Amino acid sequence: MVLQRSVFRDESLLFPEYLPHQIPHRDAQLRALELYFQSVVQNASKASQNAMICGPVGSGKTLLAKKLGESLQKKAALYGNLVKMLHINCRIDKTLQAVMVKALASLGQSFPSRGYSFEELLSVLVEELRSNRMHMIITFDEVDSLIVSDPSALYTITRLRETEQGSQVFSSLLISKTLDYMKAVDLSTISSVQRNVVTLDPYSSPQLLDIIASRGEAFVDGAFAESAMQLAADIASIYGDARYALDLVYGAGKQADILESPKILPDHVRAARAWLPPQFKKEELRYLSRHQRLILMAVSNLLKKGDSTRVTIGEVEKSYGVLCESAGIGPNHHTQVWNDVSELSRKGIIETELSGKGMRGRTTLIGLSIVSAKELVMELEKEMVADARS
Ligand SMILES: Nc1ncnc2c1ncn2[C@@H]1O[C@H](COP(=O)(O)OP(=O)(O)OP(=O)(O)O)[C@@H](O)[C@H]1O
Ligand SMILES: [Mg+2]
Repeated sequence: MVLQRSVFRDESLLFPEYLPHQIPHRDAQLRALELYFQSVVQNASKASQNAMICGPVGSGKTLLAKKLGESLQKKAALYGNLVKMLHINCRIDKTLQAVMVKALASLGQSFPSRGYSFEELLSVLVEELRSNRMHMIITFDEVDSLIVSDPSALYTITRLRETEQGSQVFSSLLISKTLDYMKAVDLSTISSVQRNVVTLDPYSSPQLLDIIASRGEAFVDGAFAESAMQLAADIASIYGDARYALDLVYGAGKQADILESPKILPDHVRAARAWLPPQFKKEELRYLSRHQRLILMAVSNLLKKGDSTRVTIGEVEKSYGVLCESAGIGPNHHTQVWNDVSELSRKGIIETELSGKGMRGRTTLIGLSIVSAKELVMELEKEMVADARS
């Protein structure tokens, strides 16, 4: 039997659950987070902290939280303290009561998912932490899901620290894509959380190239053509999304293997891109501002009506103005509209390009990247109804 040759040495280095040793372009942010929690590490029973990470899809939020957990646990041990970091995905555990059940389970205490109130579970957990002399830092990943279903949850989270003076057992790390969900939260709660925010920018192409290169061990030496790596970074930089970059690279490697190529070439990256359109997640619409949604609505309406695949920014602005008027809000100025259009394009929801010279000077043309106009209008209408209710 002839062994199938592969460009991969260890493809698991590209899997989403893999926790990399190096995190290019996020070291400073990790340090900032470590400093926020320094007092907890040193003085686990007297200090408590709330911090927050905010950044777009694939910008390394969850990764940073996990690296922070590793480092804080180690550092605390040096001071003779026991700190445990618990990662909760609030899209799955949508209530504080569910979070408590998870926290207890992580300490080997099993409680049914129903039947006990949040307060009951909290008091058992506090007792348990105290008797173990343990300080628990709970990461509330995708925390907006929790706040949407329970607007007072943020208040409760930030006040956990005040339940017992002198014997602190809780800290929290909140993660979300934007701070929009904060609108529903009262000001004093916001100010107590916003002091310690680490904001992540989308990755640029050179940064994504470094991230891809840092997983080089996944491939056989020399099997990844530099031009192919560069192309993957360039494509993923449209979204600034490291997850997409790694997915593309993985897909390109599989494509090379299928074609029995000893090397990953740019064409394999292109093929992977065609298989792997970045998932249009309907919930992404929730993270857009109201004006961005109106602009998107204007683009979708115009495209749905006409038979063209592109509309000019002038047409979009006009139609956006009309939508603003019927919604009873003042339209933004041209520069802000332009910023919003760029943001939508960066998120990969729309595509922009400059027109050829034919159209009375040059203008920006806008099209939809990944979804049909009809589908988008339907989703936006749903979101707007939800907006009007809130
Ligand atoms: N700086 C980096 N260095 C190495 N790998 C990275 C870096 N940033 C992100 N990644 C990798 O990219 C993928 C996505 O990162 P992560 O899950 O942290 O994104 P996120 O910001 O939490 O995205 P989402 O909002 O979709 O949850 C993961 O596989 C992660 O390991
Ligand atoms: Mg995440």
